[in-house]
Amino acid sequence: MKPGRFITFEGIDGAGKSSHLDAMAAWARERGHDVVLTREPGGTALAERLRELVLHAPMDALTEALLVFAARRDHLVQLIEPALARGSLVLCDRFTDASFAYQGGGRGFSLEVLGRLEDWVQQGRQPDLTLWFDLPAATAAQRRGAVRAPDRFEAQDLAFFERVSAGYAQRASAAPERFARLHAQGERPAVWAEIQDVMRTLAWW
Ligand SMILES: Nc1ncnc2c1ncn2[C@@H]1O[C@H](COP(=O)(O)OP(=O)(O)O)[C@@H](O)[C@H]1O
Ligand SMILES: [Mg+2]
Repeated sequence: MKPGRFITFEGIDGAGKSSHLDAMAAWARERGHDVVLTREPGGTALAERLRELVLHAPMDALTEALLVFAARRDHLVQLIEPALARGSLVLCDRFTDASFAYQGGGRGFSLEVLGRLEDWVQQGRQPDLTLWFDLPAATAAQRRGAVRAPDRFEAQDLAFFERVSAGYAQRASAAPERFARLHAQGERPAVWAEIQDVMRTLAWW
């Protein structure tokens, strides 16, 4: 049995994460991986209820951070850790880097408190690989404006998303061994080819 692996998809809203998750899952299944597709906030019944609150109910930044990490704790305990223990490949649409980028970068919430929550909740667990869909905030806004009604985050202005991007950049430079930065402003086939190139550099793929 292959050992379990944990891949996270990160980037601002409209960057193309969801668009590539299914293709990635299909490719991984062809290669013999048992794939678990999930997302944050969410992934379990409780965490999905917390997601609804976080995306739609007004709240202060600490409440938001606590709810996001509460959802993450449930997700890790109920779904991610058992799946990794069984040897599955877990593909997760957003994880803790998003908390640092959105709550930390976007909202200006304390990175130190986020770091403590990360330690408590994850007990050392980190993704094996983080695919970071990086693109200009204006391009992402155009893409999502074409297709969907905004939630509490998506309704923010360009300056907010520029801070979120800077938050991702900071996380990427602090953990370069697990981050792969993708040029997500490219056409879809180019982004997919880049993802495939990244995967082929991994010893375990
Ligand atoms: N490389 C791309 N070029 C142009 N449009 C794209 C590309 N990737 C995704 N899209 C479109 O942009 C929108 C946002 O993509 P999505 O995958 O939902 O982003 P995310 O999950 O990161 O918010 C969707 O309408 C999607 O079809
Ligand atoms: Mg998405």
